[in-house]
Amino acid sequence: MPVSVSAPGKIYLCGEHFVVYGAPALLSAIDKRVTVKIEDHKDKLLTYSLDNRFIRHIINVVKNHFGLRSIRPFKITVASQIKKGYHLGSSAAVSVASIGALLYYLKRVWNPDLVNKLAFEVEKIKHHNASGADNSGITYGGLVWYRKELEFLKSIWQLSLKIPSNLNKFYLIDTGTPLESTAAMVKFVAKKYAENKRFFDRFMAINEIQTKKIALALKEGNANNLVNALKVCENTLEKIGVVSQKVIPIIREVEKKGGAAKILGGGGRSKGVGYLLCFIAGENLLPDLVKRYNFSLEAISLGEEGIRLESSK
Ligand code: PMV
Repeated sequence: MPVSVSAPGKIYLCGEHFVVYGAPALLSAIDKRVTVKIEDHKDKLLTYSLDNRFIRHIINVVKNHFGLRSIRPFKITVASQIKKGYHLGSSAAVSVASIGALLYYLKRVWNPDLVNKLAFEVEKIKHHNASGADNSGITYGGLVWYRKELEFLKSIWQLSLKIPSNLNKFYLIDTGTPLESTAAMVKFVAKKYAENKRFFDRFMAINEIQTKKIALALKEGNANNLVNALKVCENTLEKIGVVSQKVIPIIREVEKKGGAAKILGGGGRSKGVGYLLCFIAGENLLPDLVKRYNFSLEAISLGEEGIRLESSK
């Protein structure tokens, strides 16, 4: 019986990079999804995706979990609305949706906690230091507070708050593909951390405070506090060197107009940073500014649903 499962992309409101070292991160699921369909196929196991090697790895993680030597032939198709390499969690969304679909197709199991656990196994192939925040934000959806306390102990809280409509005014600014992969950026930060732990810890502490302030601002519907915390959060990311010079001028201009813009996820050092996340109350101020930089703009909605069983017949 065919099974179709979808999972959202995600953004970091604050906490990326620092989350690898034990700071909290606040993530939100967004209104762009990956849908994975699995159906019987008479020949052999078939995958149709942009990255079949990655899908095969996901299938192996599921097989190993259940101790399955072989599985009946099926066809797996992946359809994605999430731009790859732009820090919206495209590969984590593919793995969460695929694992969800595989568990249901093979075992009739619907268990987001197990999906998240296995998706973390898959994430670890991307870079050895993966925090597990991406897969958690995507699996549970809404707003997720994530902290890796210890390798085997993670605090994952889905915040029970709905983003007030006056604050759900976020935009993505496309600044171009980053030259560096997330793995390379995580490695760069690890070197920086090893070189000067005290410097890093200082900005990590400031970043943690902003993560809490952002959660509070969202709960209280306070746009000014949200802007201020996002600005300071971005500044900590600039201090650790994950924000390319290419995007700093537009970030400063957004700030002058009363908004805030920040990098997402891994960021980038030498060229684009993928998407910038932007919050601004006067959205009509953005299009001209973005055009002047030859970037493009789109509105997104935060707090979307996590993994979802779309159909099972
Ligand atoms: O670039 P993305 O969307 O894969 O996010 C990476 C987030 C980091 O904090 C830099 C790494 C991690 O594993 O948390």
